[in-house]
Amino acid sequence: MLQRCGSQLAEVLRGDCDPVQLLFPDGDLNLTTQLYQESTGAKMMNNLVKQVILTALSNKTPESPLKILEIGAGTGGTTAYVLPELDQLSTEYVFTDVSSLFTEKARQQFQAYSFVDYRVLDIEKDPKTQGFLLQHYDIILAANVVHATQDLQQTLTHIRQLLTSQGMLVLLEGTRPLRWLDLIFGLTEGWWRFTDTDLRPTYPLISPSQWQQLLEKNGFVESIVLSPDSNPDSFLSQQGVMVARNAEDINTEAKNWLILGDRQGIASHLVQTLESKGENCIVAYSDSHYQQIGAKDYQVNPQNEQDISRLLEKKQFDQIIYLWGLDDPSEEDLTIDTLETGSENHCRSILQLIQNSYNKPPRFWLVTKGVMATDKNDPVVSITQSSLWGLGKAIALEHPEFNSVCVDLEINTELKQQVKVLLEEINANSPENQIAFSKNTRHVARLVPQKLSTATTQPRQLTISQRGTLENLQWQPLNRHSLKSGEVEIRVKATGLNFRDVLNALDLYPGDAGPLGCECVGEVISKGEDVELMNIGQEVMAIASGSFRDYVIVDAGMVTPKPDSLTIEEAATIPVTFLTAYYTLHHLAKIKKGDRVLIHAAAGGVGQAAIQIAQKVGAEVFATASVGKWNTLRQLGVSHIMNSRTLDFAEEILTITEDEGVDIVLNSLSGEFISKSFAILKDNGRFVEIGKSLKLEGKYPTQPSQEEIPPTPLGKGGQLPTQLSQEGKAEGLDIHSQLKPDAAYFQVDMFKVCQEEPELVQSMLCHLREQLQTGNFQPLSYQVFPREDAISAFRYMQQAKHTGKVIVSYSDRE
Ligand SMILES: NC(=O)c1ccc[n+]([C@@H]2O[C@H](COP(=O)([O-])OP(=O)(O)OC[C@H]3O[C@@H](n4cnc5c(N)ncnc54)[C@H](OP(=O)(O)O)[C@@H]3O)[C@@H](O)[C@H]2O)c1
Repeated sequence: MLQRCGSQLAEVLRGDCDPVQLLFPDGDLNLTTQLYQESTGAKMMNNLVKQVILTALSNKTPESPLKILEIGAGTGGTTAYVLPELDQLSTEYVFTDVSSLFTEKARQQFQAYSFVDYRVLDIEKDPKTQGFLLQHYDIILAANVVHATQDLQQTLTHIRQLLTSQGMLVLLEGTRPLRWLDLIFGLTEGWWRFTDTDLRPTYPLISPSQWQQLLEKNGFVESIVLSPDSNPDSFLSQQGVMVARNAEDINTEAKNWLILGDRQGIASHLVQTLESKGENCIVAYSDSHYQQIGAKDYQVNPQNEQDISRLLEKKQFDQIIYLWGLDDPSEEDLTIDTLETGSENHCRSILQLIQNSYNKPPRFWLVTKGVMATDKNDPVVSITQSSLWGLGKAIALEHPEFNSVCVDLEINTELKQQVKVLLEEINANSPENQIAFSKNTRHVARLVPQKLSTATTQPRQLTISQRGTLENLQWQPLNRHSLKSGEVEIRVKATGLNFRDVLNALDLYPGDAGPLGCECVGEVISKGEDVELMNIGQEVMAIASGSFRDYVIVDAGMVTPKPDSLTIEEAATIPVTFLTAYYTLHHLAKIKKGDRVLIHAAAGGVGQAAIQIAQKVGAEVFATASVGKWNTLRQLGVSHIMNSRTLDFAEEILTITEDEGVDIVLNSLSGEFISKSFAILKDNGRFVEIGKSLKLEGKYPTQPSQEEIPPTPLGKGGQLPTQLSQEGKAEGLDIHSQLKPDAAYFQVDMFKVCQEEPELVQSMLCHLREQLQTGNFQPLSYQVFPREDAISAFRYMQQAKHTGKVIVSYSDRE
């Protein structure tokens, strides 16, 4: 080769001969292959490289395949020595060269080695843009190639980017000027194309010590130079194998950091570490005015929007670390003023930082200390900084492109430790965005299943935060009170829902409806001293104001034992319905055998109870209900069934009774239904009003006819188009005096009755209980809703879909 090139030197220098033709005549690689592979020197050096690789292999733990990248592998002279030593099952070998001519030839040459991949790589260019994975290769091998690049430092930077942390670089290079090499490869332009003349002023090769210095300067450690002869002047030491390890911290791309610095020292430690890795940092401290206080240090006024903008103009920041919160006053020094100003300053500056970084969002680190209580016994000591977490979560949701992370450092740990965990978090590049350190443990945010509160936990009551919409119904903690004399405390098992509760929740009840719930079934858990009839543990039915709660206290007179034959839910259909029906029909209307009784809305709770009571005394029942509920009435044995949504019932009753009319009206309907009902009442009849009149305001036909009255006012869509009228009583009374002055008229309020006539109520409850116990009365049909779904129960009744009773059950607690 030397003879070939030397004899043509003059022609080459004159430009009459292409030196590439001399090295690779017509693309033939054989001559150079022999030189790189078969010559004595090549054999010796390639064997040395092989030994180095074998040593590296022996130290490698076999957790994952060994990844080797060969750069500028060319004719494969060194490759041929290394490949036979590798285990094909545990090795990935990438053969690269700047020219596809070499990679294609190599593909044929090394086809026996199936674990080899062949790719083009120009190590003078950013390897990432050429599709190579960064920090991926355990060993990078480059034989007689790196010297041929323009800038050794730049080449080493690219090599380092490709190496894993602690990965190994193996370089085979000529280490002193060699005239025979100049006469061969020196003929090509590539030999002389170096531009790093501060390092290589006149010649492409550098000495072993220069290599070591260069490697150390460029992020490699533990560099050694291996040579077959320790005498540097020996012929055998004209080449060397340089081996070095990648330093652990790899900086693939220097980043720009803006650190909103604290004054406790975390910022300065961070800067020290980051800059030692080649990162660019600017630190800004919170102060009264804008000022540059050092080469890269500033102070800014967090309340001044322009200060933040000026900072952000300094650089395109890749990362922003917000540490200002760490300087907030301690709990002892906290005042309302410092709390307000602190929170406001944080929020204002962060908002500014975010709003001014939309173009290229940096990663945002919000660092706090002692904000997150990771255990329920942990104190939250830094209230001012809490606003940072609130804002951090909002940024994460609304601007995920900022990749913002909240890191809460542990209080009472050394500064060094705080810096360490913060740096580890920053370097980890983890997907977590809420991290809190506490008791030497790293916590991240997770949703965990939470068991609903049970009997052993806080008792609850159903409340309405604001009347008007059922969505505002919610179970709230209940405070239990001590018993007064004559009271019992009931652990509620089921609550009967009443129309009154629906009106109460919707803010449509005229007057004060009190707390939600009028009745319940449950177990007596305690009783006042003078309560004798009730036993602890006894299951009872009760009229109980505020009965939508776990425990309710009531007057013992409003309680009666649950009939053994009834289930909890069956018993819950009884108190208000039967008491109202019994009181109105027996006590007021004095119902007797042969009476004709019109029961409006008879498929409802009171209606069904009234049917049973009327039937029991042998009265003739006329009942109204919406058409869909007629079957329920038929099953109850009612034969005169009419529509509760039209006024036709009056005509129909007159026809059936041959214009005689009825003796008793049990009414809960409103408007024209009242006058129509009066019209068919006998002159000396009894009209019992249990409803609260609804003013139908334009929805009601002025001339009632066969025409269907608009759907139930509480029906379609769940909206009430009407308002309850306070004048309901007067309305009925007026009609009464005009139409049937000789009839008895009763306006009933069972709650007043319970308050004013407790003995009467107690005796009626006892009587009803006996009747149920003996089977004379039957519990009503019902629909049950679990208490967590109480809103649905209310909505169901609001839409008048039900027949019988709607029950809310607490069986989830059992
Ligand atoms: N004054 C008192 O002390 C007292 C005591 C207990 C009950 N009450 C009242 O008596 C009435 C019946 O009580 P309840 O427990 O039987 O009630 P319920 O079970 O809710 O039955 C009411 C029935 O009324 C009918 N109805 C007619 N117009 C309606 C409307 N605008 N919205 C909803 N439903 C309408 C529905 O039947 P259709 O679909 O068949 O028409 C519904 O099923 C209620 O108004 C209640 O407030 C008063």
